[in-house]
Amino acid sequence: MTHSMDNNRMNPLLSRLQPYPFERLRQLFAGVQPNPAYRPISLGIGEPRHATPLFVKEALMGAFPALAAYPPTAGDPALRQACANWLQRRYGLGVDPATQILPVNGSREALFALVQTVIDPKPDAAGLRPVVISPNPFYQIYEGAALLAGADTFYAPSVPERNFAIDWDRVAPEVWQRTQLVFVCSPGNPTGAVMPLSEWQKLFELSDRYGFVIASDECYSEIYFRDEPPLGGLEAAARLGRSDFRRLISFTSLSKRSNVPGMRSGFVAGDAQLIKPFLLYRTYHGSAMSGMVQAASVAAWGDEQHVIDNRALYREKFAQVTPVLQEVLDVRLPDAGFYLWAAVPGGDDTAFARDLYAQYNVTVLPGSYLARESMGHNPGRGRVRMALVAETDECLEAAQRIVQFVQSFPKSPS
Ligand SMILES: Cc1ncc(COP(=O)(O)O)c(C=O)c1O
Repeated sequence: MTHSMDNNRMNPLLSRLQPYPFERLRQLFAGVQPNPAYRPISLGIGEPRHATPLFVKEALMGAFPALAAYPPTAGDPALRQACANWLQRRYGLGVDPATQILPVNGSREALFALVQTVIDPKPDAAGLRPVVISPNPFYQIYEGAALLAGADTFYAPSVPERNFAIDWDRVAPEVWQRTQLVFVCSPGNPTGAVMPLSEWQKLFELSDRYGFVIASDECYSEIYFRDEPPLGGLEAAARLGRSDFRRLISFTSLSKRSNVPGMRSGFVAGDAQLIKPFLLYRTYHGSAMSGMVQAASVAAWGDEQHVIDNRALYREKFAQVTPVLQEVLDVRLPDAGFYLWAAVPGGDDTAFARDLYAQYNVTVLPGSYLARESMGHNPGRGRVRMALVAETDECLEAAQRIVQFVQSFPKSPS
C-alpha cells in the first residue's frame, strides 16, 4: 500500500514510501476495545524512558547564550573533540575530530541524509536503478531514505538459527553490482544481534570489490548483556588494518545511551572522503546542531558513570522479564539493545498483537510490520517486538499478562 497524493505536482518518489509500522498498528487496533480491567501497558514503541541525567539538563540550561548565534554545521571543535575522546575510550580508536567526525541531530536524520549524499540515481546501462541493501527486519528509515534517493532496496534476511545474523550470501552478484550503499544495524533493531568481526571482514571485502559505502547504525551500542561490549564498525575496520575507514561511516547517538531522545544528538565518524561531501550536503540542508544541545552533548559524551548505571537498569530488567516470557514464548536474551524479539505460538504475529491488546491491554509490535516480503519470505512474520523501556515492575506485569494470554490458548491435540 502506498500513500495517495492529491492533484498537486509533487516529488513522485514520495508515493513509494510505505506506511510507518505504528500507523499500521493503529489500523490493526482500530475498533478494538481493550479489556478495561487492565491498565494499558505499551511495549510497542522503542523510545527510552529511563530518567535523563540531571547534569545533562544542567549543561543544556547553562548554555542559553548559544541561542544568540547561528551554530556551524560542522559543530563546535569542543564537541567533535568530545566525540573523538569517546571513540578513543570506548573502542581504542584514533579518529581525527577535524576531518573524520560530524555532529548530527540524532542518528535518524543522519541515516536519511547520508543516503541522499551518496546515491547517484542514474540508472545503469540496462535501465535499472542503483540498489541500497537493508537488513530484514530493519529500521524503517533505511528504506525511506533509499526510495527518496531514487534507489531500489534489497532486503537481506536475518537468520534466527545463526543468532539473527544477516545472510549476505543471499545477495546475488548482479545485485551487488548495482549496490551503492549497505546498511548495517549492530546491535540490531529488533533482533539485538551484534555483527562479529568475521562478518565485517566479509562486508569489507565485498565493499572493496563492488565499491559500495557501508553505513553502520550503532545507536544501541551501550546497552548490552554480555561481558564484552559490542564490536563497533570502525573498531572492526581498525582491527582489520583499514585505519582510513574507507567507504565506512558509523552512526552513534546519545538518545539511548544517555536517555535524551528529545535532545536529538548524535555523531557520525569514519572515512574523511565521505564526511567532507556529507558536510557540504548538511550545510545546504540546514542540519546544524543547536549550540545548547552541543553544550549538553559535550557533557554527556564526557561521562560514563550514567551509562554504566543505565546499562545496569536494563540488565536487571531483562534478567527478570526474559525468564517469565520464556515460560510461554520462544525468546532469549539478546546480545544487546532493549528489545525482545519473540516467536509467537501459532505464528500469526498480527492476530497475537491484536488479541493480546484486546484481552490484556498490552501493546507489542507485530514483527511482520518491521520487515518486508523478500525472496518469498517475510522474516518478521511469526514474531513480535517487545521494547522493555518502561520501569521493571511495569514490564514484569506485561510479561505476566502475556503468560496468562498464551496459557489461555486452546491446546492443539498432541
Ligand atoms: C536502529 C535505529 N537507528 C536509529 C534510530 C534513531 O535514533 P536517534 O535518531 O534518536 O539517534 C533508532 C531509534 O529508534 C533505531 O532504532
